[in-house]
Amino acid sequence: MRAAIITLSDAGYAGRREDKSGPVIRALLEEAGYTVVHTALLPDGVEPLAGELKRLCDGDIADLVLTTGGTGFSPRDLTPEATRAVTERPAPGIAEAMRWNSLQITPRAMLSRGEAGIRKGSLIVNLPGSPKAARECLEFILPALGHGLEILKGSAGNCAVEK
Ligand code: MTE
Repeated sequence: MRAAIITLSDAGYAGRREDKSGPVIRALLEEAGYTVVHTALLPDGVEPLAGELKRLCDGDIADLVLTTGGTGFSPRDLTPEATRAVTERPAPGIAEAMRWNSLQITPRAMLSRGEAGIRKGSLIVNLPGSPKAARECLEFILPALGHGLEILKGSAGNCAVEK
C-alpha cells in the first residue's frame, strides 16, 4: 500500500520548528510494509490541507494519507475541519480507537479532535501532532488498517461475506 504523510505546523512551515513527527510516522509505516510515496509540511488552516488531500486522493497517489498536527483546540488547529470538508464517507471507529486507547495513557487524549474518513479510494487519518502522540496513535490503529485498506481497494472480501 502507498502512504502519504502530511505534517501541519505553522512553525514548521516557517522553518522555526523541526518536523519530528513525520519521520517517526514514516519509520512506523515502512516497518509495517507501506511505501511512503509523498511527504509534505503545510501551514495550519483548511485550504492548504484540503487542496493537498484532494490532489492525493483524486489523483490516486496514495491509498493511505496520514496527517499529523492541528487536531487540538488552538484557533489554528483546523486539520479535522479540512478533513471533514473533503471526505465522502466518515470512518469514526478509527478516531474512536485512537482516543479510547490514548485515554489509557493520558487524559489529554480527549483534547485531540482528529477524524478519519474515505475519499474515493483513499483513507485519510488525522494523528495528533507530537511525535509521542503520533506514534502511540498509529501503533493502536496499524493492526487493523491493512485489512480496511484491502477492503477499500477491493482486494479483500467483506468480512460478513467471508463468515
Ligand atoms: N494522544 C496520545 N496517544 N498521546 C498524547 O500524548 N496528547 C494530547 C492529544 N492526544 C496525546 C494524545 C494532547 S496534549 C493534545 S493537545 C491533542 O492530542 C492535540 O494535539 P495536536 O494539536 O498536536 O494535534
